[in-house]
Amino acid sequence: MKEGRSLRLLGPLGCGYRLNPGKWLLIGGGLGAAGFPGLAAGIDCDLVLLGALSQGKLLNIPGVRTVVITEDGSSGTKGLVTDLLGSILWDSYSGIALCGPVPMMKAVIEAIPVRARANVQISAEAMMGCGWGACEGCSVPKAGGGFLKCCSDGPVFPADSIDWERWEGIH
Ligand code: FES
Repeated sequence: MKEGRSLRLLGPLGCGYRLNPGKWLLIGGGLGAAGFPGLAAGIDCDLVLLGALSQGKLLNIPGVRTVVITEDGSSGTKGLVTDLLGSILWDSYSGIALCGPVPMMKAVIEAIPVRARANVQISAEAMMGCGWGACEGCSVPKAGGGFLKCCSDGPVFPADSIDWERWEGIH
């Protein structure tokens, strides 16, 4: 849009993170971390893990302990965000926020011990037509069958409410 033009916006819509008390771990891939500064301000954020293609794609989250990794090695170590998970003390976190590309989120969840997965909330991204739960354009495959609507059921979901195999298959 051109500078000076006006725009009608509607929001906030849907459901955000359930802010469990206790320490949080935030794991973001690329632009998936865009919501983390706002989330970190409302929780006891102990650590943020950020992965991106390169330094220019990393977001800065001020005021929190952050470890970064890039695929080209231009910032932090070279590799994927899953490479940072080996030393995490999963039982010390009551909340784990995860956001990024679907294959990245699926790989992270598979690397998390099963006992800790109930604490993981993911923030989904989808093209939205209506924002009201009517068009089903934002559907995310639901564990056990059917679909969740990103606009009204989400965009934040418990990780175990998603059918990750089906969701990865449509990306
Ligand atoms: S955007 Fe229409 S149902 Fe979600």
